Amino acid sequence: MSDESESVGFCGVVIGIVFRLELGKLSNFRRLIVSERIRWVKEDPTRKNVFWPSEALKKQAWVADDSIYAEAKSDPEAFWAKQAEELHWFKHWDKVYEFTPENYKWFVGGKLNISYNSLDRHIEAGYGDRIAVIWEPEPVEEESVKLTYKELHDLVSRFANVLKELGVRKGDRVGIYLPMIPEAVIAMQACARIGAPHSVVFSAFSPDSLRDRMTDAGAKVLITADGYYRRGKPINLKKNADAGVVGTPVEKVVVVRRLGGDAPMNQGRDLWYHELMENASNDCLAEQMDSEDLAFLLHTSGTTGKPKGIMHTTGGYAVQSYVTAKWNFDLHEGDIYWCTADVGWITGHTYINYAPLMNGVTTVIYEGSPDTPDYGRMWAIIEKHKITQLYTAPTAIRMFLKWGDEWPEKYDLSSLRLLGTVGEPINVDAWMWYFDKIGGGCCPIIDTWWQTETGSNMVNSLPGIGPFIPTVAGRPFPGVIAGILDAGGSPVPAGEGGYLTIYNPLPPALTRGIYGDMERFKAEYYTEYGSERYFTSDGARKDAQGNIRITGRVDDVMNVAGHRLATAEVESALAQNENVSEAAVVSRPHEMKGEVPVAFVLLKAGIEHSEEVKKGLIKTVDSVIGPTARPDEIIFVDDVPKTRSGKIMRRVLKALVRNEPVGNLTTLRNPECVDSLKEKVGHKEQGGCS
Ligand code: PRX
Repeated sequence: MSDESESVGFCGVVIGIVFRLELGKLSNFRRLIVSERIRWVKEDPTRKNVFWPSEALKKQAWVADDSIYAEAKSDPEAFWAKQAEELHWFKHWDKVYEFTPENYKWFVGGKLNISYNSLDRHIEAGYGDRIAVIWEPEPVEEESVKLTYKELHDLVSRFANVLKELGVRKGDRVGIYLPMIPEAVIAMQACARIGAPHSVVFSAFSPDSLRDRMTDAGAKVLITADGYYRRGKPINLKKNADAGVVGTPVEKVVVVRRLGGDAPMNQGRDLWYHELMENASNDCLAEQMDSEDLAFLLHTSGTTGKPKGIMHTTGGYAVQSYVTAKWNFDLHEGDIYWCTADVGWITGHTYINYAPLMNGVTTVIYEGSPDTPDYGRMWAIIEKHKITQLYTAPTAIRMFLKWGDEWPEKYDLSSLRLLGTVGEPINVDAWMWYFDKIGGGCCPIIDTWWQTETGSNMVNSLPGIGPFIPTVAGRPFPGVIAGILDAGGSPVPAGEGGYLTIYNPLPPALTRGIYGDMERFKAEYYTEYGSERYFTSDGARKDAQGNIRITGRVDDVMNVAGHRLATAEVESALAQNENVSEAAVVSRPHEMKGEVPVAFVLLKAGIEHSEEVKKGLIKTVDSVIGPTARPDEIIFVDDVPKTRSGKIMRRVLKALVRNEPVGNLTTLRNPECVDSLKEKVGHKEQGGCS
């Protein structure tokens, strides 16, 4: 392979600087090489563009010996137990792993606290003065905020006491509806400190989404803010929180003052965060949590209209989050690591908050939009804070690529040592651009596959081992055993597509259930391949070396600009509009966002198809879910293809919007509608048997 592959390193400081200084002069030459590579990759991405770690990178990485995979596979329990020893346990576990169908436990009998491991452990080791959090506000004229581990510990302990004062006890669920401000981390850590599972709701989600989640979680306390800045404008979050808590069990609302001024407060229910914090003691012992105690809930989309509250427990989640961040991002003392996700998603929970803090590095939080004040903001932040690792989503990379090379070229990005991606399959052009323009050709790209349900990363290449191949995530993380199976449960040969499945021992961070709905949990994850194999709902294939490429969801779940959404959720939102009789939603590939929803809408009798009605539909989706779920296109139709039992055949609609063959229509009750739909969507026949 050596003639086809290249070494990637973090280049070493000196070489890195020289290399970058030379960049300007070399840019034409470099561009030639890049376009050549892209041509190769398009022909055969798995073989022709393979990058390996340099000697320097191997030397620095936590693991550089390939034998780790075989070693971990031979005894996964021993592997995870070894990693778990690096955390602080109040009480050591009695048994590493216990399995009965749909009920698996890690570090049985062990007691620990994630917040203690994130904060106290480092302070006790003498690292309390290291910077834990850097917060970059969106308005450039505002100063960034830096919190040391000691300062963060102080704030977390105070807020933990505030929650206790409000009556929150171990096991009580707490809602968090906060923007990207330090208080988001403080609130999550405070919950973890007292053992109150949080249920974080993405701040761009609508009041309806907040209401559903608070009701499902049974949260009595909600932590929110007056607002935040987005694209230069103040956004009123309190208004949404007020609307969202109506009819829920929420009794107290703690409000962080981010914008300043006086947001209207509901007497007896709302309390200002800063006032509560003033009087709170900073002395709060961390609760000794059982390894299998619930750590948090996070709602995510399934295939129905109702989001599911994914449950994560304490010990297994802590261990796998800690070690995957350490190894994947090559975290070392002094690193300034930036994950650009939102705290409302699992990536924010694990890789903005818990995992970097458990590793004792600095985690960067940016409040706002990457195009404010201009398209250079990302790169300005990297230069300003000398960021060492950047972890972002392919959809963002595609956007940066479109904005043009001149933006990153204005800034010194030489502090970067490693790049990561997550959330959706990355295309070759975006990978190569990220690699070349942002990483300067010397940072490995760690493409991490995982899910809300898996809690931590499960498939990727390790920086000290590689290989780094565009569009290929890599091998299962050591200790994770995964297979690609056909519909009957047999492994598919290398190169062929199948369903990605995770085998027993089910990895430590994997979800333990759906809150309040264990039947759904069993049905969605452990029916397809039985109770010893977790069904991921992702399609995948692997090469002869075992490197896995994720091909995307095989269910009715979309990845819209890195946000997970069920087509059924958008359908049920549209159905709430007074003019709608029926709606069917499918996904369509999108150059920037990866996928977008396309809606086929039947209006009620007498309602004219008009732009006005379309605008009304968008408004409904915004208010029921949030702007992330807006259909990219709304197509008014008179009928949608249905089976004889009346089920919408989304497969046919999907083929229509993707210009693919529509396939066999003989099972349809109304095949005649397909021709008129073809006309409406401009479908070009490409064979098939319609
Ligand atoms: O389809 C896979 C895709 O994102 C889904 C999980 O979405 P969510 O629960 O929101 O979590 C996203 C962040 C972990 C998966 O089922 N996905 C995630 N990472 C990748 C990916 N697809 C391809 N490559 C990835 N690296």
